[in-house]
Amino acid sequence: MKINGTPTRTIRLAADGWGVEIIDQTRLPHELVTVTLRSLDDAAQAIREMWVRGAPLIGATAAYGMALAARADHSDAALKKAYLVLHATRPTAINLKWALDEMTAALLPLPAEARVAAAYGRAAAICDEDVAINSAIGDHGLALIREIWADRQAQGKARFDILTHCNAGWLATVDWGTAIAPIYKAFDAGLPIHVWVDETRPRNQGASLTARELNWHGVPHTVIADNTGGHLMQHGMVDLVIVGTDRTTRNGDVCNKIGTYLKALAAKDNGVPFAVALPGPTIDWSVADGVREIPIEQRDAAEQTHIAGRDAEGRMVAVQLTPDGSPAANYAFDVTPARLVTWLITERGRCPASAEGLKSLYPEKAP
Ligand code: MRU
Repeated sequence: MKINGTPTRTIRLAADGWGVEIIDQTRLPHELVTVTLRSLDDAAQAIREMWVRGAPLIGATAAYGMALAARADHSDAALKKAYLVLHATRPTAINLKWALDEMTAALLPLPAEARVAAAYGRAAAICDEDVAINSAIGDHGLALIREIWADRQAQGKARFDILTHCNAGWLATVDWGTAIAPIYKAFDAGLPIHVWVDETRPRNQGASLTARELNWHGVPHTVIADNTGGHLMQHGMVDLVIVGTDRTTRNGDVCNKIGTYLKALAAKDNGVPFAVALPGPTIDWSVADGVREIPIEQRDAAEQTHIAGRDAEGRMVAVQLTPDGSPAANYAFDVTPARLVTWLITERGRCPASAEGLKSLYPEKAP
């Protein structure tokens, strides 16, 4: 995507050819700050503290984290330790493990002296693959939007309203985004798109990141409190819900940012199509039942009790919302059962959220 007219990826090599540049997303939407990662620990910190976040970008950062680790020490022991350090950063998004497995499969069979170049090569390829995958998701999602839009136009609607949760856009990936890729393609194709952006408490990825990138691209949007979606759906003000996912099971259960499940329930009750956009590496073929088998990250309660923003003088500040002494819980993800999902949209096309649906698109992967 472009920032001020310049095509920009969310992760790239620094000018020195080995450091890894990222956007510190904790500073958005108010400040655009890039940071250069120079070690395994830098990469692990960036993922753990959510300077980078979003399943595909976590995977891409972990891949470069392995390259940075190999540059410091390319022994088997060091690479295996790097795998464990990066794997422990965030437990839910499966792209992290996928990328680490890809890297170790590419590096461990090689002689030690070939590993650094191979690590940078594989990490760059993972990034390029992510861009191509997301662009293809955008094309398949655009086809779905066109179908629903034809129907809504026939009913006299003048605007196509999409609701999304969390940030599954360019900032959550290397480029394009997953759930937002179809939105960009529809907007660029001239469809009258409008996006309802869930603020997505507690980290506010919708209010601070999705709104930021839609704003950069010029896509009409409105930020809403997380509790608003059901009301909008009851009044015919949502034509499609589209979200991303951090892990989808082989049966089509979808794990995504906390609150996604409630949107799916409201969509089902109101007959609104509920689509999930996902790259192939987000499917965990080893898991069938998402509710029981996917580990749900619990983060620091301070993300719930406090909120960060810009004050009237333009300074970044955090303020406390809750009384001293009130405990808070911070579950970062929930699971939407496949029965509530209308479509899965992947780089290979669209399918029902079911074991059969996923098998039809990935026959070589399904057990
Ligand atoms: O905690 P985050 O910000 O990493 O969570 C991100 C999400 O839940 C996204 O919706 C998901 O990764 C899909 S993004 C392409």
